[in-house]
Amino acid sequence: MASITPKLQAYRAGILHFTTDPAFEAGSHHWHADGLLLVADGRITAAGDYAALHPGLAPDTVVIDYRGKLIVPGFIDTHLHYPQTDIIASPAPGLLPWLERYTFPAERQFSDAVHAADVASFFLDELLRCGTTTAMVYCTVHPESVEAFFIESEKRNLRMVAGKVLMDRNCPEFLRVSAESGARDTEALIKKWHKRGRQLVAITPRFAPTSSDTQLQLAGELARAYPDTYVQTHVAENVDEVAWVKQLFPGARSYLDVYDRVGLLRPRAMFGHCIWLDDADFRRMAETQSAIAVCATSNLFLGSGLFDFARADAAHALLSLATDVGGGTAFSMLQTMNESFKVARMGGTSLSALRMFYLATLGAARSMQLEGIIGNFATGAEADFIVLDPQATVLLARRTARTESLEELLFAFALLGDDRSVFATYAAGRKVHQR
Ligand code: GUN
Ligand code: ZN
Repeated sequence: MASITPKLQAYRAGILHFTTDPAFEAGSHHWHADGLLLVADGRITAAGDYAALHPGLAPDTVVIDYRGKLIVPGFIDTHLHYPQTDIIASPAPGLLPWLERYTFPAERQFSDAVHAADVASFFLDELLRCGTTTAMVYCTVHPESVEAFFIESEKRNLRMVAGKVLMDRNCPEFLRVSAESGARDTEALIKKWHKRGRQLVAITPRFAPTSSDTQLQLAGELARAYPDTYVQTHVAENVDEVAWVKQLFPGARSYLDVYDRVGLLRPRAMFGHCIWLDDADFRRMAETQSAIAVCATSNLFLGSGLFDFARADAAHALLSLATDVGGGTAFSMLQTMNESFKVARMGGTSLSALRMFYLATLGAARSMQLEGIIGNFATGAEADFIVLDPQATVLLARRTARTESLEELLFAFALLGDDRSVFATYAAGRKVHQR
């Protein structure tokens, strides 16, 4: 039995993980108030009640005692930009001026591999401090930026998805790369990095306005030629952007249809924002198993709009939560839950804390077609997990001393928590952060 191998690691704490979506099915989660998580060779071997599992352990097994704390799967952030780390919290009147004034000049610097490595290193450590163990990451148009990112991710043995941004029009000259050369570089990155260790590659047209028809066509061809790679882009974030897309692509039924017509809607395609989609778009997302990254902090910060959870759920679209750093204002998925809750509330939906924790773990893994690999504690899954501390701040300690249910406890973490709530982070069974 795996649980008596010498390399076994054992962690005692409250243990929570999901097997399905709490919005649609009862019995979606497993909660072990006094639980034990067993890990061997970087994978989960068991998660259950301490009382049930402990007698099966070899007598010399060291049990790491996290009693009083909570172990959950590592958070998954399905949309953010590592080159925007240094411009997070930069004021602008909206998306398009923010891109011009801050984003494009910051991204220009990533032709320098040394700068790219420095930022990638900080960025990944910051994610780990916040308890995020997997992310879908935009790099810049420079292949060096992607190389630097994967090198840093591989050093930490993290499961990460990243892609080289494609832009061949409507952007500064210094970030413009021809459609053909962008596709060639993307293909080379796929061949080198996709499925190397835990690394995964995303075909990454930035958004429709900065790609010619040819570039979108080539991205679609790559998406067909390499069906197990990811696709990531932005869609229907901001009203000015939507109007611009209508002008640029007069033949498309909708903004989403610009991508649909070239074959970019498919499993493993992640669309950021999705605020201004109509019902036909939401249906199309669900039909094609394309996924939505809800970016609440970014949408509030840039004044983009409010994501409609009720319509997305009515269509049974794949949903996940994302920070969208640096348009987003926090690296923390707990802070992201906080603002997602309020965005949903403004649209008449009350997200439960269980749902938000699901969306930030298994929901994201499902959106990425990675169920069984990350996102919960299924036997054999990669052991990415975090230890949450209810005593992390005096306010959190005071509130959690009075919570009367698991839902209330999780809700306190979601509304009051941040990086300080994360006591430790483990990736593939190895501790990669400790507060
Ligand atoms: N649309 C196109 N590029 C970007 C970006 O970098 N951030 C956000 N929030 N929206 C975008
Ligand atoms: Zn973005």
